[in-house]
Amino acid sequence: MAMSAVSRQTLFGSTRPKLQSLLANLHRLSIEQDRAGAHPSPRHLLAGQEQLPATAELRKKLVDDHFRDKFVALDEDKASAVYAILRAKGATRIFEAGTSFGVSTLYLLAAMRDNLAVQPSAVISGLPPRVYGTEQEAEKIKIAYQHMQQGFTDGGEATDIDREGQLQILQGDILEEIPKQKFEKASLDALLLDIWAELALPILKLLEPALKPGAVMFVDNVATTSSPYKDLYAYIDDPANGWTNIVLPYTNGFGMAVKGAGK
Ligand SMILES: C[S@@+](CC[C@H](N)C(=O)[O-])C[C@H]1O[C@@H](n2cnc3c(N)ncnc32)[C@H](O)[C@@H]1O
Repeated sequence: MAMSAVSRQTLFGSTRPKLQSLLANLHRLSIEQDRAGAHPSPRHLLAGQEQLPATAELRKKLVDDHFRDKFVALDEDKASAVYAILRAKGATRIFEAGTSFGVSTLYLLAAMRDNLAVQPSAVISGLPPRVYGTEQEAEKIKIAYQHMQQGFTDGGEATDIDREGQLQILQGDILEEIPKQKFEKASLDALLLDIWAELALPILKLLEPALKPGAVMFVDNVATTSSPYKDLYAYIDDPANGWTNIVLPYTNGFGMAVKGAGK
């Protein structure tokens, strides 16, 4: 979906010009990779193989090798919507599944920092305001941190974004890393699922107790024809699980769901 024709303003143009130009550059690089034929997901990659690797381990290796240098960044219009919704929520503790080179993370961190600037009381008592990223590739994490340092330098803003501070990118397999954090119950405001679809439901199950009632979850590419998120939607569509969900009409559908009181 094209950016709205009714607004000529870029999201951070007047407040954070360095972040805006960094994002423009990173989105352009990601789109160029897509146009050069980078597969948008492991499913597409595997479907395009003449001969499928024989074991799950070899298939994972093929996928990891292919995506090691790929952005697969969240589209600019979706990321802008996430930023705006997180601002409206006053979110200060945000979990991202799938960080890659940190494009979407820049939006999450901007939302958290902008919320703290106008509403310091939004902090969940006793818990650090923080964006948690997750990525299995060490080199991507290194570059993602560099992007944060580059992006948040406008107006003398302190670049205090480090591993223990406002952003913590967990390195390794996300399903192993989440339990290590021992998140407190109701301690997260938001979850962005921008990772391979088969991981979505297991991730939600691990994080659900940590999400506050009213927490928002975003899920990229939910409306593709092969329904890769069938399991996740069977779960959040079940009224017993208390989720309210809609699909925002961006390219391939952008899921947004709000957690109810239970679980
Ligand atoms: C779609 S990309 C994320 C894009 C990112 N949100 C952005 O907007 O730039 C998904 C990322 O998840 C990572 N990933 C895939 N499986 C993973 C796993 N099991 N644990 C941690 N990271 C994983 C991949 O290496 C890839 O970089």
